[in-house]
Amino acid sequence: VQPLQRVKGTVDLLGEELRQFAHVETLLTQALLAEGYQALRPPLLEYTDLFARGVGEDTDIVGKEMFTFTRGDRQLTLRPEGTAGVVRAYIENGMHRWPKPVKVFYLGPMFRYERPQKGRQRQFHQLGVEVLGTDDPAADAGVMLTAWNLLHTLGVQGVQLHVNNVGTPEDRQRFKADFKALLADDLAVLCDDCRRRYETNPLRMLDCKVPTCEAHYASPKVQHFLANFAWEPASAEPYAQTLAILTALGIPYTQNPKLVRGLDYYTRTVFELTSTDPASGLGAQSTVCGGGRYNNLVETLGGPETPAVGFAFGLERLVTLANLGTLTPPPKVRVLSDDPAVAMRLAGQLREAHPTVVVEADWSTGKALGKQLKQAQQAQASHVVLAQQADVEADSLTLKTMTTGDQVKLTLNELLAQGCI
Ligand code: HAM
Repeated sequence: VQPLQRVKGTVDLLGEELRQFAHVETLLTQALLAEGYQALRPPLLEYTDLFARGVGEDTDIVGKEMFTFTRGDRQLTLRPEGTAGVVRAYIENGMHRWPKPVKVFYLGPMFRYERPQKGRQRQFHQLGVEVLGTDDPAADAGVMLTAWNLLHTLGVQGVQLHVNNVGTPEDRQRFKADFKALLADDLAVLCDDCRRRYETNPLRMLDCKVPTCEAHYASPKVQHFLANFAWEPASAEPYAQTLAILTALGIPYTQNPKLVRGLDYYTRTVFELTSTDPASGLGAQSTVCGGGRYNNLVETLGGPETPAVGFAFGLERLVTLANLGTLTPPPKVRVLSDDPAVAMRLAGQLREAHPTVVVEADWSTGKALGKQLKQAQQAQASHVVLAQQADVEADSLTLKTMTTGDQVKLTLNELLAQGCI
């Protein structure tokens, strides 16, 4: 029979990679809880409409990349990102009545039908942070500081913060109109996608990866327009305040007027964090974090007026970029006996007495001691405890250190005493 294969763009996380992953998740979770963020776990499945309305019909994510299917008469989608689901949960659970700002984080798989490559999967993981119910420009700087610190906690090298102002929705209409006027005579040199985006979502043109389009948007004419577009004070002022706070915090940033992000809900300040660490091999996928302010999303999804800001890390990229050194596994003890019930009972006592040690009971019935020892070695046990029924009755157990072969005889109480293993 031909063995079945996993779905393209997905991975089986296991072994050392999973250990690294879990370690990064633990470090980040602890750091966020310490900053007063609460965990939230929205479902992986949502009604398609949530993303169509939330992320935007004209984005690549909604237009091309969603895993969508029909059940009964409803269209369902495996979430391509976390923010829309958090906002739906915020409204549905009455979280707008909680003391503000509401600070939550979430962690889990996301699904996007993209071309798989290093740092880009169809099922990937995000760790996201959302702060709901504050319009203060300090909150934008605050979440950027959090993201910045988390990257440094993980030892990520060459971190760069890119920021931009994408204006208020009203202001963006003026930006789009001016931008379209600027490019009106250039459509012939642009790709089909850009010609379509020109009509539907002109800001997205700046994200085009087709070399001729990229070159066009890097031309002095376009660069000059982007760098000199005068946003209204409604977005320009809070954006400037956020930048001033970043400066006061000593966080270096680069203003990047081409930074438009791939989701339509953003208002005002947006940002991305990249790593220039060449050792990662991530190349174009070096954006490890993306986020920004989204002051209208809660209302768009039927909730009360609630300004908000947040970001998400791509965990696969984060694990690739993290420099945490090799993780030393905890000592592992295997309890061997000629009676499996004796082994299991003693293993339970040892676990209670030595909470940082991994304790396994040998589950075999009637297997020779030599074979049990061999299996313990293969399982990379650092110690074994020999507890034959007769040893237990005589209260004389043996602790063997596998690396050295050293053996000591101990009573049960000695074995349970601190520092014994
Ligand atoms: P995003 O920029 O679409 O933003 O995704 C955030 C991060 O997820 C990216 O910077 C990248 O590291 C990672 N990522 C995205 N797609 C893939 C993929 N196919 N494979 C591996 N990693 C990937 C959002 O999703 C927003 N919800 C962030 C946000 C939260 N904005 C406000 N609050």
